[in-house]
Amino acid sequence: MTASSGTMPDVRIRGVVKRFGRFEAVAGIDLDVERGQFVTLLGPSGCGKTTTLRMIGGFEQPDVGEILVAGEPVSQDETGRHTRMVFQSYALFPHMTVARNVAFGLRMDGVARSEIAARVETMLASLGLADQAAKYPRQLSGGQQQRVALARALVTRPRVLLLDEPLGALDLKMRKRMQGELKALQRDVGITFIYVTHDQEEAMNLSDVIVVMEKGRIAQVGTPEEIYRRPVSAYVADFVGETNLLPGRVVAAGAGGLRVATRIGELSVPGAGGPAGGALTVAVRPEAIMIGPSLDGQARGRGIVQSRSFLGALTRVVIGIDGTTLTADRPGLLAVQPGDAVEFGWRDEDALALPADKSLPGEMQ
Ligand SMILES: Nc1ncnc2c1ncn2[C@@H]1O[C@H](COP(=O)(O)OP(=O)(O)OP(=O)(O)O)[C@@H](O)[C@H]1O
Ligand SMILES: [Mg+2]
Repeated sequence: MTASSGTMPDVRIRGVVKRFGRFEAVAGIDLDVERGQFVTLLGPSGCGKTTTLRMIGGFEQPDVGEILVAGEPVSQDETGRHTRMVFQSYALFPHMTVARNVAFGLRMDGVARSEIAARVETMLASLGLADQAAKYPRQLSGGQQQRVALARALVTRPRVLLLDEPLGALDLKMRKRMQGELKALQRDVGITFIYVTHDQEEAMNLSDVIVVMEKGRIAQVGTPEEIYRRPVSAYVADFVGETNLLPGRVVAAGAGGLRVATRIGELSVPGAGGPAGGALTVAVRPEAIMIGPSLDGQARGRGIVQSRSFLGALTRVVIGIDGTTLTADRPGLLAVQPGDAVEFGWRDEDALALPADKSLPGEMQ
């Protein structure tokens, strides 16, 4: 292949569609993954994450479109030429020791015995598995088995590692620990990682780039910060972190932004927006909402505290305003009680104008 690998992304997906019967599991996606990036496919169950990953790995063929890995079309006769996959279920060989599991791919590749031993030893050591080499998978904890699965994939030095919810079977504490290890490992080996999860916090924590998927399509691609701060739709805003979504209508649009009529009153929102009368959705993150007996002119309105939960690092307060609710997260302990009348507000720049979303309850007519 003559494509210069210097400019070609590690993975290029162009116009890919995958159908199962008449159902489009992947409904036309384009994506470039650059060398050495940690890219996460994020989305709810059934949105096409695994199907996409399996096509990159060559386990499935697209019905339409093309996938290139390292500049070469992925073909089923050469599954795994540039990629390795790590599964949620680990898929270790139960009758092989840890060392033999990790050596397996190298033996298949015909690597010399002496080199296999050295590479396996180094890989096990770098994943903290040096003492486990002679054990069988069933003698290991879930976290250790996951590490063996990673070692087995990484030892063959693939160009791209594909990981399908690899931490899904672990408890929360182990998952957090493995997230840190995965990130450090990826930085060390410099291999491109394409990671699948439906856990937005995990995606934020690990990724250089997040690809938010919705029903077989890509809803948004961006850094964790871009996705969180500038979601392009109510769907993305709602899936990535908590958010308050208020259906509204443009009352006036000017240089200073938009005036938007919502169920909690008229709001100023930055943005150019559409013509007066146009429908849109206003999004405000809970942590942007201030609460006080008096907000010194920054108040947007008044409401009644419906509930208050102390969550340790923050207090979550749900405020009821004429049948609508707003959720606010304040740092530390906030001494309000259900039934209290409070003022709420936020800085202008903390409100986002997003396209109208028909799936929202209370869409304004
Ligand atoms: N082999 C198959 N035959 C028929 N339908 C399939 C097949 N594989 C996947 N699907 C369907 O395609 C859609 C996407 O599946 P996919 O496994 O890619 O979802 P996912 O995003 O990985 O979801 P999850 O988070 O639950 O793993 C689902 O509706 C699924 O039922
Ligand atoms: Mg899946």
